Amino acid sequence: MPQKILVIGACGQIGTELTMKLRELHGNDQVIASDIREGNEELMRSGPFEIIDAMDYDQIENTCLYYEVDEVYLMAAMLSATGEKFPDKAWKLNMNSLFHVLDLAKDGKINKVFWPSSIAVFGPTTPQVDTPQHTIMEPTTVYGISKQTGERWCEYYHSKYGVDVRSIRYPGLISWKTLPGGGTTDYAVEIFHKALEEQSYSCFLSEDTALPMMYMEDAIRATVQIMEAPGEQIKERSSYNLSGMSFTPADIASEIQKHVPEFQMSYAPDSRQQIADSWPSSIDDSTAREDWNWNSTYDLKKTVVEMLEHLR
Ligand SMILES: NC(=O)c1ccc[n+]([C@@H]2O[C@H](COP(=O)([O-])OP(=O)(O)OC[C@H]3O[C@@H](n4cnc5c(N)ncnc54)[C@H](O)[C@@H]3O)[C@@H](O)[C@H]2O)c1
Repeated sequence: MPQKILVIGACGQIGTELTMKLRELHGNDQVIASDIREGNEELMRSGPFEIIDAMDYDQIENTCLYYEVDEVYLMAAMLSATGEKFPDKAWKLNMNSLFHVLDLAKDGKINKVFWPSSIAVFGPTTPQVDTPQHTIMEPTTVYGISKQTGERWCEYYHSKYGVDVRSIRYPGLISWKTLPGGGTTDYAVEIFHKALEEQSYSCFLSEDTALPMMYMEDAIRATVQIMEAPGEQIKERSSYNLSGMSFTPADIASEIQKHVPEFQMSYAPDSRQQIADSWPSSIDDSTAREDWNWNSTYDLKKTVVEMLEHLR
């Protein structure tokens, strides 16, 4: 029997591409997209769509029962930079939505859950270079606190109630199909649009701020891979470190200049600099590599070529 999948927050940066990938793999009608707003045309036309508020347990439950959903991918969240503007809302959305989905699984109404964590679970006291899977975690943003707390609850629901929940700590994601939704690494997408439209970009982080990043295709592949892996391979039920590449704004600017020679970069760090400074600069993902054979395929060079090609 093919699985039925519900994606919550399907119209965002990751949800859009994830939904299309899942529809390609499982069949369009098997994958129900949902969000509080409509998504792009491709997503809306290719399969079922429901308006669902991730804060509303009954809406999620009714949709799961109606479509006989097996798996839920919970992508709705308030991200790091927006979360600092609305800490109370960020906490409520990020935590309540997770409990709703975990409780559905605990009560046997769905079988499997994907919930993304983030490099934001780390903080200024974490070793910054090659941050290990298990290390000090003292996040300073409400977003990071919600992700770290979420990880603890995922592990708890797995060990106490046997919930099959799987999670990845995504780094900053670079994509061309959908714009990012209010994170600290958004500059690494904006820069491509500005380079092509205006041949200049004012970056909100300083030139030497190295952060872990990943091309969307790798992130989607990792998500599908961890969800398809046999349960016994998933030994971390909090969340897995995942690494693609690591670069500074100056690095990506000079890589773009190789293709757009007239491109000029300037720097005007804002409040997001403080968030970036509290995060790791690179991630050790050897646990994911060992447990479920993860391997990244995009470095900065390849990412820049792909991004410019698609956006042109
Ligand atoms: N994009 C990244 O670089 C990145 C990095 C690390 C972790 N993540 C995590 O991945 C997940 C998806 O991130 P994204 O970048 O796609 O975010 P996004 O902001 O682009 O998309 C989130 C989607 O959730 C929807 N949403 C907001 N409130 C909702 C609600 N109450 N009910 C239903 N839907 C709601 C929004 O309309 C949006 O379409 C989040 O949990 C995020 O924390 C993202």
